[in-house]
This record gives sequence, C-alpha cells and structure tokens, in this order.
Amino acid sequence: MAAFWFFVVTAWLTLLPMLSSTVDGARVPAMFVFGDSLLDPGNNNHLVTLAKANYAPNGVDFVGGVTGRFCNGGTVADHLGTLLGLPLIPPFNDPNTTGSHILRGVNFASAASGILNHTGRLYGNLFSMDDQIANFNITLQQLNSQLGDDTESFLAKSLFFLNMGSNDYVNNYLLPFSDKPNKYTPEAFSDLLIRNYNKQLMNLYDLGGRRFLVASLGPLGCIPNQIGNSGGSIDSCVGQTNQLAAQFNTKLRTMLDELTGSLQGSYFLYWDTYSSATEIIDNYADYGFKHQHSACCGGGRSKGQIICLPLLPLECHNRSQYVFWDPYHPTDAFNAIVAKGAFQGTLQAAHPMNVQQLVET
Ligand SMILES: *[C@@H]1O[C@H](CO)[C@@H](O)[C@H](O)[C@H]1NC(C)=O
Ligand SMILES: *[C@@H]1O[C@H](CO)[C@@H](O)[C@H](O)[C@H]1NC(C)=O
Ligand SMILES: *[C@@H]1O[C@H](CO)[C@@H](O)[C@H](O)[C@H]1NC(C)=O
Ligand SMILES: *[C@@H]1O[C@H](CO)[C@@H](O)[C@H](O)[C@H]1NC(C)=O
Repeated sequence: MAAFWFFVVTAWLTLLPMLSSTVDGARVPAMFVFGDSLLDPGNNNHLVTLAKANYAPNGVDFVGGVTGRFCNGGTVADHLGTLLGLPLIPPFNDPNTTGSHILRGVNFASAASGILNHTGRLYGNLFSMDDQIANFNITLQQLNSQLGDDTESFLAKSLFFLNMGSNDYVNNYLLPFSDKPNKYTPEAFSDLLIRNYNKQLMNLYDLGGRRFLVASLGPLGCIPNQIGNSGGSIDSCVGQTNQLAAQFNTKLRTMLDELTGSLQGSYFLYWDTYSSATEIIDNYADYGFKHQHSACCGGGRSKGQIICLPLLPLECHNRSQYVFWDPYHPTDAFNAIVAKGAFQGTLQAAHPMNVQQLVET
C-alpha cells in the first residue's frame, strides 16, 4: 500500500511541471504548430525540395542562427511561443525531436505546403496539411506513452496554432500555368479550400485538440513577389490578389465560428492577420518601418522576383526597417508586432477573444 502511494505521489510530482501551466511561468503546457513557410522551423531541411531556407542570410538576426526559418529572425510561432512563456518549439522532422523534447509542443509546418495535397509540389517534397496531421498522430502516440491518461487534459489545455492557405493561392491558383482558374471560379476555389480545411480541423479535434488559433490569409497582394511580378505600380498592392485572400477569410471566419458552436468544449479563434498586416503596411512609419513594399533580401522589381539567395548582397543593414524579409515572408520586426496583436488583443486581431483570454479560460 505504501509503495502504491509512493508511486502515485512521485508520478504526480514528475508530471506536475509538464501539466501545470504555471510552474515554469508558461501559460499553456504546449503548443502544436501547423502551416507553411511562414511558420516552418526547418522541417524541409532534409527533404528533396527547392523550398528550404537553411542557408545564410536567413537567420542573420536569430538566436539559433540558420535553422531553416524563412526569416531574418523569429516567425510568428516563435514570438507567440515567447509570449506564452514556452521555449522554442522543435521541428517534427528532426531526429532529436523525441522523448522529453516533445513535451512543450512540436512544429509540423512545411514550406510550400497547402490545404490541398498537390499545392507546392512543383518545388519538390513537402508535408501537406494532411501529412502534418498524420505526423501529429505519430507525436500523439509518443505523448500517450509518456503521459498516459493525462494526455487528454494535456492536449485540451495546449494551443493548436495554424496558418495555412497562402500557397494554395500563391503557389497553385495564381501560378501563370495553373489549370485551376479554368476549373474553379474564385468563389468555387475558396469553397473547396474551406471544405478541406474544415475536415482537417475536425481531424485535429478528434485527435484531442480543443484550443485553436487559426490565422487568416494575409493581404497576399502586398507581398513583394506579387507586386514585383505584376505589371502595375511598385508602390501599391495587387488588388485582385487581395480580394482572393479576403474572400477566403470571410468564409474561414464563419467556418471557425460554426466549429466552436458545434464541437463540444472547443475554441476556434480567428486571427485576422489580414487587417493587422494592412494596418501596419498602410501606416508603416508609425510602426518604425521605412520600407513597406520592397523586400530586404531578394532580387528584381521590389526585390520580389528572385528569392533570397546567399549570393545576393544584403544591402539592408537594419532589418527592422523592413516589413518584408524576402519576396514572400515578413521580417522578425513585423512578426513580433502581429504576434503581440493576437496575444494581447491590440489591433483587434483575434475573434472572439485574444490568445491571453483563451489560455486563461
Ligand atoms: C541532436 O542532439 C545531438 C546530441 O545532443 C547534437 O549533437 C546535435 O547537434 C543535435 N542535432 C540537431 C539537429 O539539433
Ligand atoms: C490527401 O492525401 C491523403 C493521403 O496522403 C488522403 O487521405 C486525402 O484524402 C487527400 N486529400 C485530398 C483533398 O485529396
Ligand atoms: C491516428 O492513428 C490511429 C492509430 O495509429 C488511427 O487509427 C487513426 O485513424 C489516425 N487518425 C488520423 C486522423 O490520422
Ligand atoms: C533600426 O531601425 C529601427 C526602426 O526604425 C530603429 O529603432 C533602430 O534604432 C535602428 N537600429 C540601428 C542600429 O540603427
């Protein structure tokens, strides 16, 4: 009997730091991240693909240096993790991401990936959203073997953060040789994406996720890649591309509200990165930026036509003055501002509550 109680007490003491969200100051036990290159921490490094960023000058301002992040510094997942009091969340596709290293969360995001299975395949291998869910299922088995019956409450209190869909437009629907516009009107294409995303979110709920933060698409017409390759002015965003993103976002917000209403004990927060990014780009000087449309690292018009390569001279000495790091991805400075927006509710970013309120619920 004494031995039994000893076992119970020690088991509890061992699990306590992982399950309680306050022992080490973190506000959630863990964060699980799903997405594309905006969040990828290096999952593509060992894949056969052109979509990888594990070379300088990427990481030039990052504590970990070159990691595979498509940024000079931290992604929004990194900044959100810091605000939640979590350590850096490791990539799934890394041999070291096992054992106790998965207990603060795992990042499954993969550059070039999308909601649709075939999105981004022109670059090579990737983990599509369905693959990322299958990978989470593998992590789940490992969590089960470490946490046992406590896995359910561990997952229910953890944050599931997703940012998906940009590549379904930029590297699928909008490609010059895409067959999609002939098959789908913009309306029908956004419906197709939302239907698939809805199923994928329900899969994650079935696997134990309860607290979700789902990012909207940003103003895709404002990325240097779209501005540089448009025939139009380099001083304004591409309106047509922004409309596609806005159309997807309206449906996403409704879909998330419906999920919260129908799935017992769930919270699906809509993160309006579109409005936050538009506010920052329109009023860039108020946020300390000097360049809102042209990338820091890249080549061609708006530095948006050639990706960030080691051979290109890095002319931007102060990265904090740029909204965009490369033709597709924002800088660390921008990511820090928008992450704070979702967390604290500045910029009216998260609906129907901010992340801080969600984790205190
Ligand atoms: C994995 O862990 C080993 C031993 O701790 C270390 O030497 C190695 O650099 C790590 N690999 C990565 C990719 O972090
Ligand atoms: C994507 O592929 C997975 C298997 O890899 C399959 O289960 C799923 O149905 C596919 N989704 C779509 C939309 O084709
Ligand atoms: C997760 O894995 C389990 C067992 O390995 C399997 O039965 C289940 O269908 C998987 N679920 C998803 C959503 O992949
Ligand atoms: C870089 O730019 C930011 C924002 O404009 C400014 O606050 C900072 O002082 C600059 N840093 C350096 C080293 O010039």
